[in-house]
Amino acid sequence: MELPRWAPADIDLQRPNAARVYDYLLGGASNFEIDRVFAHKLLEHAPEAASVLQQNRAFLARAVRFCVEQGIRQFLDLGSGIPTVGNVHEIAQRLAPECRVVYVDNEPIAVAHCELMLKHNDNAGAVLADLVDVDAVLDSEPVRQLIDPTQPMAVILAAVLHFVPEEANPYDAVAGYVDAMAPGSFLVLSHGARTGQQRFQTLRRMYDQSSTPAAVRTREEIQAFMIGTEIVEPGVVWTPRWRPEITTGSHPEAEVIYAAVGRKPEVLTIAE
Ligand SMILES: C[S@@+](CC[C@H](N)C(=O)[O-])C[C@H]1O[C@@H](n2cnc3c(N)ncnc32)[C@H](O)[C@@H]1O
Repeated sequence: MELPRWAPADIDLQRPNAARVYDYLLGGASNFEIDRVFAHKLLEHAPEAASVLQQNRAFLARAVRFCVEQGIRQFLDLGSGIPTVGNVHEIAQRLAPECRVVYVDNEPIAVAHCELMLKHNDNAGAVLADLVDVDAVLDSEPVRQLIDPTQPMAVILAAVLHFVPEEANPYDAVAGYVDAMAPGSFLVLSHGARTGQQRFQTLRRMYDQSSTPAAVRTREEIQAFMIGTEIVEPGVVWTPRWRPEITTGSHPEAEVIYAAVGRKPEVLTIAE
């Protein structure tokens, strides 16, 4: 198959990939036949999938605005995906042009697109890396250039940790980022929930055939990623319920992805 000019030569086209399926479901064009076939099968089992992803994206936008309002001016977006509507640097720099953003993804297309998009933006960069390789991410050129570790930052993990299995030690990785954050920093998290529903089991099995198998977790397991931070109101909630800017009623169809934002305190008080 002939690759389009924007596609790096080393991409895996034998299996669908979460970044490209997500891009397709959000209406993007950086995907391949194998991803689109997968996305359509996904929609057969869960017609609300596109809406769930839009709700996740809307949560991400609200959380970034919240962080800027709290004074955050630097963002590390881990598992950032293929650029789409409402990228972190666009949201943050619209509110505060001095904001600096580094995108990290382990999918070459996502990073290639980020680099293209950021060609003329001195305050943003992209890194091709596995987020569990905390040292490689933090020592990368863009992070060293753009993120000042002595100042508060926001570390974003939106809809990515459910692609990181236990064997890859995601809890250690997140703890590594929390450890590296200055007090006053924020951890922004969204994560697919494990439910007993048959159709979610089907979706999970589908993702197991992709290059990005799913590792959904319970609410308690998701909350455990926030250790070392104080979770801000309203706590760990379904994405549409995290500080909605307009009230749009209930979204039972979106009860798939949990959202939370935590602040690293000056001195951590351990609850008894
Ligand atoms: C569903 S997309 C989420 C994109 C974006 N964060 C959002 O919420 O809109 C998940 C992204 O995580 C990336 N990803 C999965 N595992 C990763 C890992 N171990 N390290 C870095 N990126 C990863 C995928 O390539 C994909 O781009």
